[in-house]
Parts: sequence; C-alpha cells; structure tokens
Amino acid sequence: MGSVNWWLKLIKHDFSGKIVLITGSSGAVGSRLLDFFTSHGATTIGTYLDEMKINIARSKSEGIDLIRCNTMENDDVTSLVGTITKKHGRIDILVNTVGGYLGGKSVVDLEEEEWNKMFGLNLLSAFLITKHVVPLMLQSDYGKIVHISSYTGISAQGLDSAYASSKAGLIRFVESVSKELKNRNLTVNCVLPSIIDTKANRKMMADADFKQWISIDELVAVIAFLSSDDSRAITGSAIPVLKPN
Ligand SMILES: NC(=O)c1ccc[n+]([C@@H]2O[C@H](COP(=O)([O-])OP(=O)(O)OC[C@H]3O[C@@H](n4cnc5c(N)ncnc54)[C@H](OP(=O)(O)O)[C@@H]3O)[C@@H](O)[C@H]2O)c1
Repeated sequence: MGSVNWWLKLIKHDFSGKIVLITGSSGAVGSRLLDFFTSHGATTIGTYLDEMKINIARSKSEGIDLIRCNTMENDDVTSLVGTITKKHGRIDILVNTVGGYLGGKSVVDLEEEEWNKMFGLNLLSAFLITKHVVPLMLQSDYGKIVHISSYTGISAQGLDSAYASSKAGLIRFVESVSKELKNRNLTVNCVLPSIIDTKANRKMMADADFKQWISIDELVAVIAFLSSDDSRAITGSAIPVLKPN
C-alpha cells in the first residue's frame, strides 16, 4: 500500500470513531483510501478478492481488518456485512471502489460474457453492497455511501459500450437510491473520474502524457469530502473528477 501524500494529510476532515468499509481495498484507489481513512482516525475494514495482492499481516499490525469478498456474490456480501455487524454494530461510511474496465472492443466483437462481467463488476456489485449496508445505516440513522462510477458514464469514447453503459447505470442507481433514502440522514453519491494516474494505467498506456491524468490523491480528496459531514447537503450527485487545467 502506498503512503498518503503530505497535502492529503492536511485535509481536516476528522473521521475519528467512524466505521469505514472500503470495498476493493486491494486496488489502486481502494488501498490509498484505506491509508487515508486509517490515518484520519477511522476504524477501517477493507475487502479484497485476490489474496496475492494484499498484505494481511501488515494491515493487522495497523489495526485494519481485511476480509475476502466477491462483491458479485450475494452470499459473500451478506457474510461480509454480518461479520462487520457482529464486531462493530454499524457501518458509518461505505466507499465502493470495486470496478473494472473493458475497452477497445466493437459492439460486434464484444462477447456476452464480457458484457455481463462489466455489469457484474460495475453495477451488480454496487447494488449488492448497497442493499446490505443500507439497513445497517438506517438502524443508526446515519450513513455516507460513495460509489466510483467514471466520466465515461456520461461521455463514452466508443469501443467501450459495456463499460460505459454499466458506469452510466451506476449513476442512475445512485440517484434512485438517494431519493429513496431522502430525509433519512443518509447520503449516496458517486464520483466520475477520468483516467487516474495508477501504475496499471502507466503500464498499459506507456506513451501517454501522465500529467493529463488525475492523481489518486486528487480523487481521494473528493471522496473524503463526500464521506464527511461537510457534504451533508449533497446526495444523489455524480461529481466529475477531472484534471484541473
Ligand atoms: N483507473 C482508472 O483510470 C479509472 C478511471 C475511472 C473510473 N475508475 C473506477 O475506479 C474504481 C477503482 O479503480 P482502480 O484503478 O483502483 O481499480 P483496480 O486497481 O483494478 O482495483 C479494483 C478492485 O476491485 C476488486 N475486485 C475486482 N473484482 C472483484 C469482485 N468480483 N469482487 C470483489 N472485489 C473485486 C479488486 O480486488 P483484487 O485486487 O483482490 O482482485 C481490486 O481491489 C473502479 O470502479 C474503476 O472502474 C478507474
């Protein structure tokens, strides 16, 4: 897991006493979020799928619980939320970072399994984790949910129909759930990042101008705001996170 940039440490949100669940915490964005919330006082729980990609021993020593969960499986998500409920009794903040990209394929060449995989990762996962976390948040009359959609969800590039439609679906999902939960002291929002400066993207697009990409920390800063009480008047929003000019 990478360390948090110095300027991110200056962010004043205080998450002391908050129980924070980050799905996909073995990923580029999820791992940084785990560091961020932990260093800002929260009790953090992260999920992963592939145990080769995480350091359970290190996380334990930092007081972070890591739980394996396939967020496309209802039973896994039920068991994840059950385990957290038993230990902590509540979840205050959920940041769902699980997702995946598939581009460069025309609609003619796209396989049905690839379509289903995109919708499973980007939409079914979001539905299942929200479905199981919301009852817990309603019990404590408090909750902040942030999903990661994509700028592609409002502006497709072409050759990305499955990814773009699944991320667009996530935006409407967030809007619908936020309306359902109006006046319940729960906010549900999503962020729409453009290309993020991750190791995987640098490897995949080695000739690109990385300076045009948003940094992970710039994205974390927006998610931190949406997870904080400063954003109590914002729900159902889909916030673009683009490189400032
Ligand atoms: N990277 C970008 O340029 C970019 C741009 C726009 C939007 N986004 C969105 O931002 C989010 C985070 O991106 P990222 O770059 O951090 O992605 P990433 O590094 O690929 O991480 C994805 C995470 O999702 C987990 N995951 C994958 N399949 C899963 C499943 N079936 N059940 C549970 N967990 C699963 C992975 O677990 P394992 O590592 O254990 O397999 C990993 O923790 C995603 O939703 C992505 O679509 C990314």
